[in-house]
Amino acid sequence: MQFPEFNPYLRKYEEFGSPVVRSEAAVGARGVWARQFAQEQPLHLEIGSGNGFFLAGIAQVHPEWNVLGVEIRFKRIVTAAKKIRAFGVERNARIVRYDAWWLDEILAPGELSGLYLNHPDPWPKDKHARNRLLCPFFAQWAAIALRPGSELRLKTDSLLNFRQMELAIVDQPFEILAQVEDLGRNGVPWPEREEIVTNFQRKFERKGLPVHGMVLRRREG
Ligand SMILES: C[S@@+](CC[C@H](N)C(=O)[O-])C[C@H]1O[C@@H](n2cnc3c(N)ncnc32)[C@H](O)[C@@H]1O
Repeated sequence: MQFPEFNPYLRKYEEFGSPVVRSEAAVGARGVWARQFAQEQPLHLEIGSGNGFFLAGIAQVHPEWNVLGVEIRFKRIVTAAKKIRAFGVERNARIVRYDAWWLDEILAPGELSGLYLNHPDPWPKDKHARNRLLCPFFAQWAAIALRPGSELRLKTDSLLNFRQMELAIVDQPFEILAQVEDLGRNGVPWPEREEIVTNFQRKFERKGLPVHGMVLRRREG
């Protein structure tokens, strides 16, 4: 008897090959991520890559970085992988299926030179608060994974995410370098060429809704 296919993108994910890094391989790559790329370069991570616009775009802007995207949904992984190929950044961009709550399993302390969160789900209702990624547990992990002196950047349509981030870092070695409400009106707090418009960002901007940005620095020591 043939069972109906549960998620057609599961098969596509499994068959895709590079630039998709399978979850099992990601665990083995902990501390030695350079082996998954064409050459050893600083590793930057985007969490929740969605359709991969930022991942492929930033890899194109920075060929001297290795850029890893983490995403949970099979369909979006496949779309992001296609985008990596379409942008011609197979050398320095990879996408992995992993749950953002468990990144400690695939990234060693100090392995990251940059961390990017673009429109993380804000989970505004109190009954969903435990789903909010921007929490002390996450900030503690980020402080371990990021090299001292490196940046964590947050782009979001939700000011609730700003507040969540401020609270999350209270006991952690981060300083807020910039916090900009309405990037369209006030400009971006990062180099203009690194302003890659993501899928969600485009949706909000089309509706005339503001998008905000925050830059944090992992303090020395
Ligand atoms: C609101 S979307 C933003 C997508 C993209 N960054 C953008 O700006 O267009 C949030 C993304 O995070 C992913 N995501 C949510 N929870 C996750 C988790 N625990 N681990 C990895 N990815 C997750 C979702 O599947 C989704 O693609």
